[in-house]
Order: sequence, then C-alpha cells, then structure tokens
Amino acid sequence: MARRGHDLVLVARDEKRLSDLAAKLSAQYGVTVDVLKADLTLRDDVRAVEKRLREDATIELLVNNAGIGPKGPLLADDLDYLETMIELNVVAVNRLAIAAAQTFSARGKGAIINIASVVALVPERFNGTYNASKAFVLNLTQSIHTEVSGKGVKVQAVLPGLTRTEIFDRAGGSIDRLDPSMVMDVTDLVDAALAGFDQGELVTIPSLPDAADWATFSNARLALSPNLSHDRPAARYGIERAEAV
Ligand SMILES: NC(=O)c1ccc[n+]([C@@H]2O[C@H](COP(=O)([O-])OP(=O)(O)OC[C@H]3O[C@@H](n4cnc5c(N)ncnc54)[C@H](OP(=O)(O)O)[C@@H]3O)[C@@H](O)[C@H]2O)c1
Repeated sequence: MARRGHDLVLVARDEKRLSDLAAKLSAQYGVTVDVLKADLTLRDDVRAVEKRLREDATIELLVNNAGIGPKGPLLADDLDYLETMIELNVVAVNRLAIAAAQTFSARGKGAIINIASVVALVPERFNGTYNASKAFVLNLTQSIHTEVSGKGVKVQAVLPGLTRTEIFDRAGGSIDRLDPSMVMDVTDLVDAALAGFDQGELVTIPSLPDAADWATFSNARLALSPNLSHDRPAARYGIERAEAV
C-alpha cells in the first residue's frame, strides 16, 4: 500500500514494531504513516479504531488483516483461546467492516479488503472455530458487497492458502513442518491479492489456477437459492401438511 502511494494508519498491539515499520515505510516511499496501538480482542480498543475510521475523512481503504490461528484440532484446543480467536477474527472484523461500509457508502467512495482463508471453503479440514471464523469473513464480505454495490464502495475477500508468516509460530507450531509445495511466500500472496483487487474481484483465491472453478462453485450454490425456503418440507421427509387452524 505504501508503494502504491497510500498514507497509512497501522494498527496492531506491538507499538515499537509498528513505529519501526512506520519509519521505514515513510523513508522508503515518502508517505505519511500513523500508528494506532490497539488490541482488537478488546472491545474498547476496537471502538477507538472504529472512531478513527468514521471521523478521519482521509481514510479510503480498510484492510481487515489481523487474525490468529488455532493451536491444534478442536478436541485438543482451549475454549478460552478459541473465544479470543472469535473476538479478533470475527467480532472486530464485523465491527470495522460494517463501520467502514457505512462510512464509505455515505461518502460515496472507499474500499474494504477482508482477509479470510481457503479453509472457509473446506470445513472438513483444519480447526473448526478457525474455519468458521473465516467462513464468517467470506460470507460477511459477500453480503456487504450486495449492500454497497452502486454506492462507490469496492469490497474484496482474500482467501489465502498456507502462507509463510508468523501465524504458525505464534500458535505454537511451525510452518516448516508443512509441505513446502503448499506454502506461498507472503510477498507473492499480497501482490496477487492486490492484482485481484485491481481486477475488481470480489473473492480472490491467489492459489487457484482456474478462476472458472470458483465461478462454478458459486453458481452451484446460487442454484440452490430458489429451493431454500418453501411453505412445506420436501417430500422425502414424509410430513403431512399441517391443517390451518
Ligand atoms: N499465514 C497463513 O497461512 C494464513 C492463511 C490464511 C489466512 N491467513 C490470515 O491472514 C491474516 C494475517 O495473518 P498472518 O498469517 O500474517 O499472521 P501473523 O504473521 O501472525 O500476523 C498477525 C498480525 O495481526 C496482528 N494481531 C494479532 N493479534 C492482534 C490483536 N489482538 N489485536 C491487533 N492486532 C493483532 C499482529 O500484530 P501484533 O502481534 O503486534 O498485534 C500481526 O500484525 C489473518 O487474518 C490470518 O487468519 C493466514
């Protein structure tokens, strides 16, 4: 984003790391970079970020990126940790994405990029709470898109596969234990995500070789739509229609 000439507001918990990055980006790209320290698992901190988003008219783009991964399968995971994950991956994303959608659509301009994950599409694999948190992000993004389309607001969900970042180390694992042919470099991931954004994609799956596969999947889902709500159960359940009283 800095390379593209955007001034930035960097949000995370580690203020020193944020300040060092801000100084580096300003020096390298000549942009203004502010730091806003916030723990997005804390509701007051999320509200402070929301306030900045609503009140600072220079903000035109929100990237909802912060997220944590699981420590293992559900049966071995700690419920308090999973609830913290929901606060960060779901509650904060929901609040900031909707606040941005409201603010940007009122201004008639803006963009929202939400970082989901390919596990949103494969709940049979990986940790259920994490998968569900990312399915939430995908679903929310698609829904926001429907509401803001025609209001000058661009929306994108990015679905990375395994990506070489700190996320696995932070959750007590290691990316080096994974099949390297499945792990993307983070620079490639971000470049592909931004290329998808430039192409106007609502959903970007950087690893997926053929975009037509996503279209087929989406069309199959939408084809269910006319049959998802009827006034009587399907015949296979053998339910007699209740008589009106
Ligand atoms: N890496 C993958 O394989 C992969 C795959 C699919 C999707 N994703 C998604 O990609 C996004 C980025 O993850 P990553 O892989 O880059 O992980 P990462 O290297 O661990 O980075 C996580 C970022 O989120 C910030 N963060 C963590 N907890 C926070 C909190 N409570 N409040 C505010 N900021 C917080 C961290 O900064 P501080 O620690 O300073 O707060 C850091 O900047 C996440 O949403 C993740 O679910 C990752």
